[in-house]
Amino acid sequence: MEVDFTFYLRKSLLELSPYQSAREEFVNYGRQMILLDANENPFATSVNRYPDPMQTRLKKEIASWRKLEEDQIYLSNGSDEFISQIIMGCCEPGEDHILIVPPTFGMYKVAAKIHGVGVKEVPLTSEFQLDVPSILKSADQKTKLLFIPNPNNPTGNSFKAEDIKTIIENFNGLVIVDEAYVEFAKAPSSLPMLNNYPNLMVCQTFSKAQGMAGVRLGMAFAHKTLIAFLNRIKAPYNINSLSLTAASEQLRKQDLVKEQVTTLLKERSRLERVLQELNWVVSCFPSDANFILIRVDNSALRYKQFIQAGIVVRNSSKSLGCENTLRITVGTPKENNTLIEVLQTLDNNL
Ligand SMILES: Cc1ncc(COP(=O)(O)O)c(C=O)c1O
Repeated sequence: MEVDFTFYLRKSLLELSPYQSAREEFVNYGRQMILLDANENPFATSVNRYPDPMQTRLKKEIASWRKLEEDQIYLSNGSDEFISQIIMGCCEPGEDHILIVPPTFGMYKVAAKIHGVGVKEVPLTSEFQLDVPSILKSADQKTKLLFIPNPNNPTGNSFKAEDIKTIIENFNGLVIVDEAYVEFAKAPSSLPMLNNYPNLMVCQTFSKAQGMAGVRLGMAFAHKTLIAFLNRIKAPYNINSLSLTAASEQLRKQDLVKEQVTTLLKERSRLERVLQELNWVVSCFPSDANFILIRVDNSALRYKQFIQAGIVVRNSSKSLGCENTLRITVGTPKENNTLIEVLQTLDNNL
């Protein structure tokens, strides 16, 4: 199928000649070269040289991990940076807009506003599922991107796979399925659909199950034409050397990650059981992620009580449809023991 990718991208950026970094200008033919091209300090520390602008080695490792081609991978300084770059690259400020499905991850709207791009909102249904007919009806020629976090943040649930498929097949712009919590989910990843749907982009991160929020490393997967475009508009050295090395090492520890995920899922069930028994918890929403959203009698009061007990949770009450809710991340078994003690001592009556 021939696809005109230029429809998705900002016309003004199509002709851009990207910054050519010093390290991309020569071929070394396997020889050891003397590097006098990038104004670095030549005395060796482990990081005196600029990192590989195309992150070739790490992409090779991620490609074999995720069963994709290297040219289908874009690496970003956290998924946050990818979100910002894709909005900047696709949406003409003051003209185009993105579509989001609140309650949703807050950065989509913030990034759009920073770039002067409009935001259309199509709320989730009362079961926190995608309102497919309204999403498709709301989209027009200026709707360039749709962001679907799956599992969703802050609600924690996954969306129906058939709804995501229907949307991808019928939406005019790019559909970005943000799989930050995919390792925790029973619901399937959208990655296997990538080769069939050129308007699908999937992003994942090292910040959650991979246990590396501090390295700031996000991965976006898409058709190679979209990835090539993202590479042309990115900052030349957007992933630093320390993060490249740390991520590479983490990829060799996937057995440990799986063990941790299994523990966290068991802990999630344990917390759910306790939460469901508490009178002041109105509802405990089903989660496919490493956090639980609960509706309580009075979120401001309960939030304060948690703080007084030395526990920080997230008050999600400002998100659409999430009045009086708190979002609780699943901690270590020891942290959860303390959390459970606190939960059970909080006063049942206000
Ligand atoms: C759905 C979702 N996407 C993206 C992110 C940000 O990921 P990163 O740490 O890679 O920027 C988060 C963080 O909470 C998230 O919940």
